[in-house]
Amino acid sequence: MNINSIPVIAIDGPSASGKGTVAQLVSENLGFQYLDSGSLYRLVALKAIRIGIDLNDEKALENIAQNLDVTFTGRKIQLGIEEVTDLIRQEIYGNGASKIAAHSRLREALLDRQRAFRKGPGLVADGRDMCSVVFPDAALKVFLTATAEVRAKRRYKQLMEKGEGVNINTILRDIEERDRRDSIRVFAPLKQSKDSSFIDTTLLGITEVVNKILEQYSEISIKSI
Ligand code: CDP
Repeated sequence: MNINSIPVIAIDGPSASGKGTVAQLVSENLGFQYLDSGSLYRLVALKAIRIGIDLNDEKALENIAQNLDVTFTGRKIQLGIEEVTDLIRQEIYGNGASKIAAHSRLREALLDRQRAFRKGPGLVADGRDMCSVVFPDAALKVFLTATAEVRAKRRYKQLMEKGEGVNINTILRDIEERDRRDSIRVFAPLKQSKDSSFIDTTLLGITEVVNKILEQYSEISIKSI
């Protein structure tokens, strides 16, 4: 099977816009593979912080990315023999990921790893540059967003549920800072690509968003028959 004929649904959007949850549910519904590209940036940040590498040292970060010993098993993420599924969700690694994500050599080093997730019967991939750089030929492209205040509330709830003691104002500030960094960077900045469908989730529940994407995908599939 030609790899380019495997359908991809690419979902981009800012921090805490619900991409991860939505993408996972869409992939389960269709029986597709799932790529959480942000987890790769978080994993590199985790390793770099642990080893004590300067987050501006592009060469060292590229090296970590090239040698990342990661295994994805369903929702479980393992670094070597250590399970880090919950650990990498901590804000310190999210913020670290956003800082290192500006380096082009690191982004380049993660490209093949991300594209390797494209396997039959299809893939749902979420991140910042899925539509523009990683899967520009995606069958369906979606840009998910919500106001920074609503996203901060969602992230707050998520982190509290994981038992992380957090302050909502700090989260809002971090989200705004992360939006700014992700949008102004030179390489693969966060922005809606022209051919993607825009969904504002401020007033929408998860199920409504998932159904919208499934509807859009089924319309495309019917047209292509
Ligand atoms: O969960 P949240 O949306 O906050 O973050 P994430 O998707 O896990 O990604 C963490 C950081 O990695 C983001 O702030 C981005 O700077 C970076 N990232 C990226 O540059 N490109 C991607 N495809 C995915 C994440």
